[in-house]
Amino acid sequence: MAHNKKFNTRLGVIAATVGSAVGLGNIWRFPYECGQHGGGAFLLAYIVFAVAIGIPVICAEFVIGRSTGKNVAGAFKALRAAPLWRSVGWLGIFTSFLIMGFYSVVAGWCMDYIWQSLTGFGGVATEAAFHERFDEFSSDVWRPLGWTALFLVANFWVISRGVQKGIERISSVLMPLLFIILAVFCVYALTLPAAAEGLEFLLKPDFSQLTPDVLLSALGQAFFSLSVGMGVLITYASYFNRQTPLVRTATVTTALDTLVAVMAGVIIFPACFSFGEAPAAGPRLVFEVLPTVFMSMPLGRLWGALFFILLFVASLTSTLSLTEVTVAYFEGEHKMGRGKATAIDASGVGVMAALSSLSFGPLAGMTVCGLTFFNLLDFVSSNILMPLGGMLLAVYAGWVLDRSIIRHQLTPEGVRRVPAYVPLVVFSLKYLAPVAILAIFVTGLL
Ligand code: TRP
Repeated sequence: MAHNKKFNTRLGVIAATVGSAVGLGNIWRFPYECGQHGGGAFLLAYIVFAVAIGIPVICAEFVIGRSTGKNVAGAFKALRAAPLWRSVGWLGIFTSFLIMGFYSVVAGWCMDYIWQSLTGFGGVATEAAFHERFDEFSSDVWRPLGWTALFLVANFWVISRGVQKGIERISSVLMPLLFIILAVFCVYALTLPAAAEGLEFLLKPDFSQLTPDVLLSALGQAFFSLSVGMGVLITYASYFNRQTPLVRTATVTTALDTLVAVMAGVIIFPACFSFGEAPAAGPRLVFEVLPTVFMSMPLGRLWGALFFILLFVASLTSTLSLTEVTVAYFEGEHKMGRGKATAIDASGVGVMAALSSLSFGPLAGMTVCGLTFFNLLDFVSSNILMPLGGMLLAVYAGWVLDRSIIRHQLTPEGVRRVPAYVPLVVFSLKYLAPVAILAIFVTGLL
């Protein structure tokens, strides 16, 4: 069993880490957040946060994970960290439940849309008709619930098979394929009539749009999309070996993740403007815009189905990482078998997911601060809990953790002198990340 607790190859490490990062966050959440929060200004803020805060906090998680070889809670215990820091572990496990609660619902929608693409969406073609179809589907009780349940079964089945066999194998094959098909769609989207308008919306920042609300959303999106701030990467790094270069892995992951999000934007916004959808449509955006794109392409049914299949797999590699945090915790700290750990996690997640699926239909009226259960899970986990976890991780790694551990872990195997980027990472962890996150919280939440 022990050998199944490490990633096997270099490619496997990158594929699994990128697989965790790339998912619905890039293709579903990024376009809708960007569309609601000012387009280019949002993208700019997102990139700045990903580089200046995301990469350093990823490094912090990697250092904590690889140096201890433990799950989120076990790692802080092994480092003899005070209770405040250990709470990062708890926070991570709690957050993973919340994220799974809405994420698996959207993954379920993707599965339904595989089928809908194949059957040509019942022959409808206009934007309004896709809007109506989405409404009808998402407010139904059983159909979305069924798909969500099926998605969760797939997720927990892979998880129960263990780390290397399950996660690594799936990620290494299908992630490159997703990338290629996105590139094809990008080229196609650029031929649409309103391509220029769409690109301008995505790429040209209007600085007057940089409000506290937009900054908070961009920060939340950076944490969500990079899977950082809640210990998923601590868990993954505990499966890295000493040869894995941490800073490079963090940088490559961030670059690829951002590239995929930008590609999604390059597809969605030209299509939005060409087919008359508002960029600010919210979580339903890609489910209304993409079908219009597919149905306007030759062989569109097949393209559409292929796309939603790959998106389903991308979601799966992300939810595997989210589930792995909790399962590794139960295994490591409560000496549970993997099967039992999986079953406990699955039951909790199942309840959350059912409630958030129903919040599009029968429970739509149940709101907290104007947010439905689904929107609440999304907002609280990404915009509050993950940045909070990231802030605690940064302060811990920058101020408390023995500096020699950081230097040693961030210096690649065989290199004698500490590379120049290490002090930059430490600077961000000590000052930049905590201060920026705090400032954005204070202005964005008040
Ligand atoms: N980053 C993933 C995405 O963009 C979602 C995700 C996977 C995640 N694992 C995570 C988010 C851990 C937060 C924490 O789709």
